[in-house]
Amino acid sequence: MKLYTIVMAAGKGSRMKSLDESVSKVAYPLLGRPLIKYVLKAIEPLQCARVVTIVGFGGETAKALVQDQCEIAWQTELKGTGHAIMQVAPLLENEGGMTLIVSGDTPLLQSETLISLIKRHQDEANDLTILSAVLDNPFGYGRIIRDGDGHVKAVIEQADANKEQAQVSEINAGVYVFDNQKLFQELKRLKPINKQGEYYLTDLIAIFNKLGYRVGAQIVTDFTETLGINDRNQLAEAAKLMRGRINNGLMKSGVTIEDPDNTYIGPEVVIGQDTVIKPGCYIMGVTQIGTANQIGPDTTIENTTIGHRNKIIKSYITDASIKDDNAIGPFTHLRGHAEIMNHTRVGNFVEVKASTIHDGAKAAHLSYLGDTEVDEKANIGCGTITANYDGKNKWKTKIGKRVFVGSGTTIIAPLTIGDDAFIAAGSTLNQDVPSNDMAIARARQENKPGFAKVIRRRIDQKAK
Ligand code: UD1
Ligand code: CA
Repeated sequence: MKLYTIVMAAGKGSRMKSLDESVSKVAYPLLGRPLIKYVLKAIEPLQCARVVTIVGFGGETAKALVQDQCEIAWQTELKGTGHAIMQVAPLLENEGGMTLIVSGDTPLLQSETLISLIKRHQDEANDLTILSAVLDNPFGYGRIIRDGDGHVKAVIEQADANKEQAQVSEINAGVYVFDNQKLFQELKRLKPINKQGEYYLTDLIAIFNKLGYRVGAQIVTDFTETLGINDRNQLAEAAKLMRGRINNGLMKSGVTIEDPDNTYIGPEVVIGQDTVIKPGCYIMGVTQIGTANQIGPDTTIENTTIGHRNKIIKSYITDASIKDDNAIGPFTHLRGHAEIMNHTRVGNFVEVKASTIHDGAKAAHLSYLGDTEVDEKANIGCGTITANYDGKNKWKTKIGKRVFVGSGTTIIAPLTIGDDAFIAAGSTLNQDVPSNDMAIARARQENKPGFAKVIRRRIDQKAK
């Protein structure tokens, strides 16, 4: 049977208390990924024939995030969840099959839960199957009302619940599977006659029962999956739960995480076996890390690819690529497509931007390498700076194989140093250096015998 999914994401998100009203709530990031992307990821394995996201408040931001993955329906006036689904009628009402309805603000929902909900819907030949959860504190949710035989009769919203109904701890998780045709047919019966003056999608439960349709419910095993993000506390709570899920998964697959409570790893990060993550690491974006690396403590890595057996201590790395057996840090900054090949050493307070450090090269201390090619086994002395920017344009530097760059050298780009050249410490280079040459570019030193005393006397006199 064909399956369709509708993602409701038009809500106002007023409890986020944002200054910027143009941002949809479902665009808020959780470990670097927008909330709605988690929901779309969870439905991916269901192989839906069509997916429609309903946007409204902050709709342009929500639309921009998802439009390459689904169709968009607009709900320009927010008149409730039932009204939201009505906006999808022009797109889906003539389709056969079943329709899954989820909310864009429930990032913790898992594919397996949705699959088993759909399976139950089909096994029981239901017209509507609703996902429920049993909560210690059900306040705020719609309550599931069952009859004496345990059949689901209705969902009553918090605002409309009487005392007895409010006692019920089984709640509506806001995830439904409907017979598609019956859904759109019976939506027309909804009336905004309730405390909130809204068209409640949840009124369809009672309506379906009255019409003699089959209604079932599946209780979710882990109720945290149904957590909806309405405010920033829930955002933090969900991030914590998601973090636990990601870290546990990695540990199960053979990654050591020394302190999972102090390790932040995003949903699109892949890490290989026997890699050790020390405390205080923040690893986000589309990042791949191979096997047997040692990372941290206190290291940030974003949108980076890392090979095997590297040691990376206390560093800040974004948009970089690191191959195998490198020693990086502490306090190394790699960015702007920095490329570190194999067996290198990139050390203390070295910033590498849009540069390639080839096999066996070293830059161990206090350097800036920008738009630079450091060829195999070159040694970059402490305090070397590539002056790559003239105020308008960026220029390239090329440092040949086995070149020795003495400490405190400034290389004014564009400039090329040939293989095996030797640069004297303290040089300021503004011309190419041919292979095998030695370059020295600094003022000659002059020693004035005994003159230190004269200088000191002058200083003392000035002070009087
Ligand atoms: C809804 C359910 C409630 C359930 C709870 C689970 C209804 C009437 N109630 O309540 O039974 O326990 O979810 O979290 O459905 N939305 C729109 N357009 C609207 C209104 C809402 O797209 O006009 C979207 C929101 O963006 C959100 C979802 O629908 O993604 C749910 O809306 P929300 O206002 O959060 O519903 P609840 O009051 O939480
Ligand atoms: Ca909600």
